[in-house]
Amino acid sequence: MSGQAPPASALERALPLLDADARPQRFAVPRGYLDLLGGIDVESTGTAFDLMNTGLVPRIYERYWRPGLGRVAKGVLGPSMRDEHRIARLLLGLTPGDGVLDVACGPGNFTRDFARVVAADGLAVGIDASTTMLERAVRDTPPAEFPAAAYIRGNAVELPFRDHSFDAVCCFAALHFFDDPFRALDHMTRVLTPGGRIAILTSCRLRTPLPRTIDGLLGARSGQRMFERDEITGALEERGFKDVRQRISGLAQFVGGRLR
Ligand SMILES: C[S@@+](CC[C@H](N)C(=O)[O-])C[C@H]1O[C@@H](n2cnc3c(N)ncnc32)[C@H](O)[C@@H]1O
Repeated sequence: MSGQAPPASALERALPLLDADARPQRFAVPRGYLDLLGGIDVESTGTAFDLMNTGLVPRIYERYWRPGLGRVAKGVLGPSMRDEHRIARLLLGLTPGDGVLDVACGPGNFTRDFARVVAADGLAVGIDASTTMLERAVRDTPPAEFPAAAYIRGNAVELPFRDHSFDAVCCFAALHFFDDPFRALDHMTRVLTPGGRIAILTSCRLRTPLPRTIDGLLGARSGQRMFERDEITGALEERGFKDVRQRISGLAQFVGGRLR
């Protein structure tokens, strides 16, 4: 016996990053994620949001759902899932020891990747509102293999973290679900350190009139917002990001930037 205390878990290391009023009085994580919403549900924005809270979708999400719908959104020649992971890593510029926030992390499919890169001294926090998604995330993220990963149940539109808490923030395949995506962007900006990096994958409207009618209808039916081509790049510039980059692929856009 060395008498040394075991290293703090990633969730314990994430606690000081929480806003004082969001910090739990008692640290208890019976389900493996820290639940800051308790009995409160984030208000649904439509069918697509509701599906994320079922038992089935989180089970098939990473292997079938996300690659399948991603292909439809990005087009046949668009980036693969492997490319998406590469784009996220590139835009976030992660190095060992960094702190990264994965907003609307779903089953942790990107959080795990980030946890590997930032390694044991870093922190990869995934936040999502869906209990079923987070249960799956915890199941697929054994702490021995991913000592940097921590999951929190919270609202992406009202991020419960202190200012300047993270070196990088990722929000893939989710901004278009939020009831107030620009408020979510305000929070993502707020929690970044100066010089911090952001990576976003979201919807993007087509240019020509007939396809625009169709993409508008599809978006409205599923409860997903279709962003104009310069709406997200402009929103990041307004919030003080520089080197804002965009790659459009079909109905999807990847956007990255660095906070001044
Ligand atoms: C399509 S999944 C994206 C998962 C992952 N980021 C990816 O790229 O595959 C969208 C996620 O957004 C979450 N979500 C939607 N609105 C949210 C909100 N207001 N706060 C937190 N999570 C939200 C859903 O629960 C769902 O897990």
